Amino acid sequence: MPNTKLKKTTKLKHLIQSPELSFLMEAHNGLSAKVVEEAGFAGIWGSGLSLSAAMGLRDCNEATWTQVLDVVELMADGTAIPILLDGDTGYGNFNTVRRLVKKLEQRDVAGVCMEDKIFPKTNSFINGTKQQLADLDEFSGKIKAAKDAQQDDDFCVVARVEAFIAGWGLEEALKRAEAYRKAGADAILIHSALRNPSEILMFKKEWGNRLPVVIVPTKYYATPTDVFRDQQISVVIWANHLMRAALGRMQTVAKTIFTEQNLLNVEEEVATVAEVFRIQGEDELIVAEKRYFPASGKDSKAIILAASRGKELGELTEDKPKVMVAIGGQPILARLAATLRSVQIKDINVVRGYCKEAVNLSGITYFDNDQYESSQELFSLSKALPALKGTCLIAFGDILVKKYIIEELMDADADFVVAVDTNWRDSRNRDRSAEYVKCSEPHSKRSFSNPVWLQDIFVDADRGDIQGEWIGLLKVSPAGAEFLTKHIQALALNEDVFRVLRIADLIKSIIQAGAKVRVLYQTGHWLDVNHLIDVVDAGNF
Ligand code: SPV
Ligand code: MG
Repeated sequence: MPNTKLKKTTKLKHLIQSPELSFLMEAHNGLSAKVVEEAGFAGIWGSGLSLSAAMGLRDCNEATWTQVLDVVELMADGTAIPILLDGDTGYGNFNTVRRLVKKLEQRDVAGVCMEDKIFPKTNSFINGTKQQLADLDEFSGKIKAAKDAQQDDDFCVVARVEAFIAGWGLEEALKRAEAYRKAGADAILIHSALRNPSEILMFKKEWGNRLPVVIVPTKYYATPTDVFRDQQISVVIWANHLMRAALGRMQTVAKTIFTEQNLLNVEEEVATVAEVFRIQGEDELIVAEKRYFPASGKDSKAIILAASRGKELGELTEDKPKVMVAIGGQPILARLAATLRSVQIKDINVVRGYCKEAVNLSGITYFDNDQYESSQELFSLSKALPALKGTCLIAFGDILVKKYIIEELMDADADFVVAVDTNWRDSRNRDRSAEYVKCSEPHSKRSFSNPVWLQDIFVDADRGDIQGEWIGLLKVSPAGAEFLTKHIQALALNEDVFRVLRIADLIKSIIQAGAKVRVLYQTGHWLDVNHLIDVVDAGNF
């Protein structure tokens, strides 16, 4: 198990210095870096070839070094294993190298490899023998500058010797490696474009263990890894295989979809969207949201009761239920759903009944109460019991309400919470069905800071102890939802009675069963649509 507490620089240093053969795997963006880590590799090679290819550019410093840095930062961000960046020639002179090291350290990149060629460089496998080597002293100065610039003692600078690539022999390779060692390099990368490891092994034999040796067996890939192990090579870099794997698959998949104009032969061959979410770390975000964003209502739901016709609205409801009557050009239900969505309640469930085909707004889960004519609100709610889980708002479908009222309900800390309008006297005279409440204390300054509890809910508008009118909203907590589900199931056993119960009866019944229902006093800012006059009022809402 790698020690995750170590700095990445320290991890890379250990990996380079350990007597065991270690492996770095190429990555070229945040995603491939995660793939490398998950595969089990102890470190990442930030390959210049792959980074440039992934940008659609050539490997000859077409990408600016700050563009490279931005990608490498994403790679470092998303992983806990160290990155050795292929820093080409250092992108300039000794001074550029100092800036580079400073910026790499700031972005948590553990080391840089620089090759002794001329800026702008060319990939070692393109006309290698025509490539010009850097002046030995000048390049040694860059290595020294890099080592002097690093703030973290464990940051690694790997000097890459291109003598074999450029057609020079062993002697030049050894001379350069030694000069770079003296300049302070932490390891020597000795590169070869041969299809066999002869140059590398020859070098290693003469070099001995003066500094750890890093190799890139892209061309001599057929050599068994144990050969490198036996020769005490320190690090093997698999330099470009994720980029090449991605390229090959992308080409095949693009061609197939283009030719076949469908996804049938592709869908099962590519990673699932769920896998994409997993590697992106969606799970962590869900946990974090619970911890840091509790009031967001992100996993809150709503169940809206919309089964009744609303006969009082006359011909407006001849072919649709009242929740679909347009107000200001939009059905009541659409307006209510928009309000809910604006407070992040996106999982909206609606119980339909009368003219259910007419209730067809998108983005809503529907439940049906086909016995709407012979049943009441609670019977409708019982049809949506599968949705009664987690934090849930139960609402009548014919109300319009300002969003802050819903926000306050969702934020309130109790298993059951109802909104109560203190303005109940205004509505009493208008021939309408309303449910009134008696609470532990009336609306006052005190009730603003002290929790108020519901004591009774009833339809008798002449009682002397009315403290408000229930706005048809009941919010339940996850525990409240569980309690309510069991309670409803128990009530349902007595089917005849159950059919005629209203939500107010349910609330009364849970209070009798010992549940505490919290009251949030409001004053106005909502209305329910019962009569034609309400439709007019609602238009102005
Ligand atoms: C890279 O991966 O960019 C390298 C290794 O520098 S090579 O392409 O083999 O030169
Ligand atoms: Mg490179």
